[in-house]
Amino acid sequence: SDPGLVERARAAKAALGDKVFVLGHHYQRDEVIEFADVTGDSFKLAKEAAARPDAPWIVFCGVHFMAESADILTSEDQTVILPDLAAGCSMADMAAIAQVEDCWDELVEAGVADAVVPVTYMNSSAAIKAFTGRHGGTVCTSSNARTALTWALSERGGLEGDGKVLFLPDQHLGRNTWARDLGGSLDDCVVWDPHRPLGGLTVEELRAARMILWRGHCSVHGRFTTEAVAAARATIPGVRVIVHPECRHEVVELADEVGSTERIIQTIAAAPDGTAWAVGTELNLVQRLGQMFPAQRITFLEKNVCYCSTMNRIDLPHLVWALESLVDGRVVNPIRVEPQVAADARVALDQMLALPG
Ligand code: 13P
Ligand code: SF4
Repeated sequence: SDPGLVERARAAKAALGDKVFVLGHHYQRDEVIEFADVTGDSFKLAKEAAARPDAPWIVFCGVHFMAESADILTSEDQTVILPDLAAGCSMADMAAIAQVEDCWDELVEAGVADAVVPVTYMNSSAAIKAFTGRHGGTVCTSSNARTALTWALSERGGLEGDGKVLFLPDQHLGRNTWARDLGGSLDDCVVWDPHRPLGGLTVEELRAARMILWRGHCSVHGRFTTEAVAAARATIPGVRVIVHPECRHEVVELADEVGSTERIIQTIAAAPDGTAWAVGTELNLVQRLGQMFPAQRITFLEKNVCYCSTMNRIDLPHLVWALESLVDGRVVNPIRVEPQVAADARVALDQMLALPG
């Protein structure tokens, strides 16, 4: 990256000292990660943001829903800054609050809502987290989805009981957690299509279902294929395939290991030198894994999957702009969640933080 910009980022950070706290998601570019005070998956970053009450400015190098969650979890005197407001998430955009409210009304009308607990993935708007809080549900991330589902079903007899989960907005994480982590049956899963009346389902299907999966997916992880897993196994002797749970169920089924970004890093760190890995997650992280663990043989699972374009919106010029503006006394791109939405969303986020483990 441009040495002039690197120097300016260093100087601005030094001038701001402890007043600024920079968080970096594992999918961020190297040029940005270099300036992060802490890196992590979305769960770790949510906790880290809440653990720095003394920093008036939190610069979030990640995507919009993460910055919103950080704003909700931090105090009124703190401001969360997203260096580029175009850093959204296509998955989060697949569930609009009006659609989710309509879905709930239809579940009430169908007579099934009483058995349903909403569980929303962190990758969703604050409005959807607020909906989840209002309806007694929880937020989850890819590192605690199993615990979140177990909690959500516990009121009505657990896995063997008759409770249902409305899982928003990533159908793959919901399906993988139910069928792989909890050993549930795929026959118990239905997909709610927000563009069709009653989600494209019948009342009978909804009555029988245990997992109502919102029709959303990650545009990056959804592209990994079973063919790529087979090709890796055919060409790399002894390869271990490790993928993120946002991948499609058939891909996850073929993998040796499945985990959140933080878990992927820890698993590779704990493996003996010389282990061969084919990694199915975002490319910035896979490339960094290669640098972090040169004694391991790390390849990207699928050649034609690319970076997360919205994560990549945060680049060094945007970071420098955000930091230098703070030095000049200007706060650019603050993320402020409306107070009522924040209060309701906080209920669902606090529920997640209170989950065991
Ligand atoms: P985690 O940080 O929970 O692994 O999620 C990955 C992701 O897609 C974030 O956008
Ligand atoms: Fe959204 Fe997928 Fe990008 Fe994560 S990797 S920010 S889920 S589009």
